[in-house]
Amino acid sequence: MHQASAFGFFSRNRVVNVDVVIVGAGAAGLFCAGVAGQLGLKVLLLDHAPKVAEKIRISGGGRCNFTNRDATPAQYLSANPHFCRSALSRYTPQDFIALVQRHGVAYHEKHKGQLFCDRSAEDIIDLLLKECAAGAAGGSVTRWQPCAVRQIRYHDGAAAPDAATPAAGRYEVDTDQGTVHCHSLVVATGGLSIPKIGATDFGYRVARQFDLRLVEQRPGLVPLTFDGAAWAPYAQLAGLALPVAMETGSKKAKGLFLEDLLFTHRGLSGPAVLQISSYWQPGTPIRINLAPEHDLPALLARAKATSRKLLGNELGQHVPSRLAEAWVQQDAAWQRPCSDVTDKALGALAERLSRWELVPTGTEGYKKAEVTLGGVDTRDLSQQTLESRQPGLFFIGEVVDVTGWLGGYNFQWAWASAHACAQGL
Ligand code: FDA
Repeated sequence: MHQASAFGFFSRNRVVNVDVVIVGAGAAGLFCAGVAGQLGLKVLLLDHAPKVAEKIRISGGGRCNFTNRDATPAQYLSANPHFCRSALSRYTPQDFIALVQRHGVAYHEKHKGQLFCDRSAEDIIDLLLKECAAGAAGGSVTRWQPCAVRQIRYHDGAAAPDAATPAAGRYEVDTDQGTVHCHSLVVATGGLSIPKIGATDFGYRVARQFDLRLVEQRPGLVPLTFDGAAWAPYAQLAGLALPVAMETGSKKAKGLFLEDLLFTHRGLSGPAVLQISSYWQPGTPIRINLAPEHDLPALLARAKATSRKLLGNELGQHVPSRLAEAWVQQDAAWQRPCSDVTDKALGALAERLSRWELVPTGTEGYKKAEVTLGGVDTRDLSQQTLESRQPGLFFIGEVVDVTGWLGGYNFQWAWASAHACAQGL
């Protein structure tokens, strides 16, 4: 009986020999498969999910922010911030843009170098599938999906497995569609974000099996939540969005972003918060300037000298009026005509709005996080090829302890790490 696949046919339940098995048909796995196939390698791509690249499909609100024109290592978090430099410099945003143009995918720049498909994220998935279908010099990509991996065994040269095992395979991968032998094994199973579309800890388990180190994982690019009672005064602001400056962290790892903030019923979201969340450590504060474009002390001093309006109304000229109203309700000293408010109360209001400090109780977790921070420790990986200390075992994409900012950086890491790996297979 034959297993139909996207690009070829393999017999079910018999031993199969390929050069490379790639586990995970997401962004990194698909791209790595396409490049490796075109370099002449016989590739088998496996994914336990029924649909290919589901995360690409839902990314960027369905339009996939596929890269950032200005990506540099400075926009990535890792225990070793220099690790990503090599792969990122050898496969750049311009390289991926050229590929997108070759495939005739229409795109546009939205904000701060972020490139999105004009039509749909499906265009990027089609591009990757076409690259997989374009194997050259005897190379090919076969995809088994859905297909789960049950067990991985490694044989070094000295200890050959049983007589039936072809000599070429250092790895034996037992899948629910038979056993596969391969020279190289690439783990591209991503992080823990959005379990309902197939995220698992598979990559971390494989790393542990081969005694590779892990950096602790936590959700990143994720909304922050606050204690119910403490948040009650702000819950009325749910749905309000405004540009802010936001910061958190120590001198060593400080995040500072000028982006939009969104109030929600449970806490804070929007691009500023998602960015900051990757730098936030539990128990520590975040600081928000709610009026970063204004010199509030000067504006309020002028209002005191010239205006008879209520302070809340005057403030509403400079920040959204819902925010101004909710703010002045916090102190009776602020609920007066501007000219009657004391200098001390005005100073306290300006300080509170421009340095609002609060301690989140947590995050919305992996069900809402766009990425997973931490992962396979880069100390155990080659920065040239992403091969681990375990010969022939590679890790690419989000499973590695390299996490980008919001804005196309994570896909750029997926493409760049996949490309570097394919050259090293
Ligand atoms: P990815 O998650 O893409 O793929 C992993 C694959 O492995 C999946 O197909 C999964 O089914 C498979 N898998 C997992 N466990 C397995 C197992 N046990 N056995 C077999 N297969 C297994 N980034 C960006 O740059 N621009 C954007 O616009 C967005 N937008 C965005 C929106 C949302 C809602 C999310 C959740 C994330 C984003 N991202 C993003 C982040 C981006 O999607 C992410 O960083 C990349 O998809 C990571 O690529 P990988 O290939 O490493 O993992």
